[in-house]
Amino acid sequence: MLDQSYIQSARDLLNDAIIYHEGTPVGTVAACDHSLSASNYNECFIRDFFPSALVFLMDGQYDIVRNFLDIVLRLRTQQQQMLGHELAEGLMPASFAVNNDVSGSASLVADFGDRAIGRVAPVDSAMWWIILLRSYTLVTGDTSLAKSDDYQHGIRQILGLYLKESFETSPAMLVPDASSMIDRRMGVNGHPLEIQSLFYGMLLSAQDLLLNNADNHTLLGMVRKRVQTLRSYIRLYYWLDITRLNEIHRYSSEEFGWDAVNVLNINPESIPEWLDGWLTADSGYLVGNLGPGKMDFRFFTLGNLLAVLFGLTTDEQACKLMNLFETRWDQLIGQMPLKLIYPAVTGKEWVIMTGSDPKNVAWSYHNGGNWPTLLWAFTGAAIRTGREDLARSAYEIATQRLPQDKWAEYYDGKSGSLIGRRSNLNQTWSATSYIISDSLLNDPDSLSTFETLIF
Ligand code: GLC
Repeated sequence: MLDQSYIQSARDLLNDAIIYHEGTPVGTVAACDHSLSASNYNECFIRDFFPSALVFLMDGQYDIVRNFLDIVLRLRTQQQQMLGHELAEGLMPASFAVNNDVSGSASLVADFGDRAIGRVAPVDSAMWWIILLRSYTLVTGDTSLAKSDDYQHGIRQILGLYLKESFETSPAMLVPDASSMIDRRMGVNGHPLEIQSLFYGMLLSAQDLLLNNADNHTLLGMVRKRVQTLRSYIRLYYWLDITRLNEIHRYSSEEFGWDAVNVLNINPESIPEWLDGWLTADSGYLVGNLGPGKMDFRFFTLGNLLAVLFGLTTDEQACKLMNLFETRWDQLIGQMPLKLIYPAVTGKEWVIMTGSDPKNVAWSYHNGGNWPTLLWAFTGAAIRTGREDLARSAYEIATQRLPQDKWAEYYDGKSGSLIGRRSNLNQTWSATSYIISDSLLNDPDSLSTFETLIF
């Protein structure tokens, strides 16, 4: 097959993935793999739809994106209130399905984590939704949606929930485990990077979308402040390069009071062995998670790439991050772009961190598997930092296998050489990510859609 037929095959998959409600297209299923009847991959996941939506926006197919935004906004009302709890208005579902009954009528059913494996809370959904709403508005010029009362009310409710104080002691957002793309127990509770990057992108989007009127005045003030404090905090405390690693290596601990340097009481002894020599002088990254006595030094790809895209990192940090991909190419890109987390956890640590999860054994799935869906964000971050060369190399690696492997969901192994043991085939976001990467690299017209993600 030539590249063009690969793109055609990816587009055919996207087309087959579209789901309809009352004759109108409203979303895309996660995978068109018919052997998966018992799973929820035949639902439309909010996060999985994001790259589908970028393709539709690039192609001028605006209706499906608009319908999706509308439906997800409406589905909020399906959330069940738990006995003795206040309803978390502003939460958006992880996924939804169109159920056709025997009489031929169709209903939309949302999952707020109440049916999901492990009952995980979809904290990222509303953030993807707001970021997409801004892109849709900028690409189409259609401001009617975002300005309407329903949407303004929806955005206010989301911000009300996401800016509400819970038990935070820093500007970073506190979340339960498995509340975003890594939707299984994997040590991503607390203040995981991916959530912080999305939170930042969402706050900036909301700042643009909220009308500057009396209703929004206080909220807009809070959003502006949080954008600043979150940005400074991430750039300082999450950033790791050789200079910072040396500082942490020589940290004193048990510091009490206002003058503490090691404010989170990170024990230098917690620096993992693999980090010794891993960072070169011109590279760096944002660590995966940060909390009291806890710095998760693992490299989480999506959170880092989104931080570059949304401008959460400084320009210098963004360049150093792309240098890291270059110097650690075999580990982070390998035989299929890209590694989701580096490195994998093994042995006792795997038992404790994952709860002995057989799907997340070392170098598989969320525990160090390689995920083609990350290619779109990598391409975007590479273009933003002037490292198109890296994006082209990654795209070429994907081209050699991904279409032939029928758009596998993820790959196993240290270098990602094996199709994931329990990976779906015909995974929609593997194909859409490839289409986006191809468009960004080969079609200058597509860049205007991508620029709507840059702040
Ligand atoms: C898996 C992934 C999740 C994705 C879903 C549907 O659960 O971990 O991120 O949204 O599959 O593809």
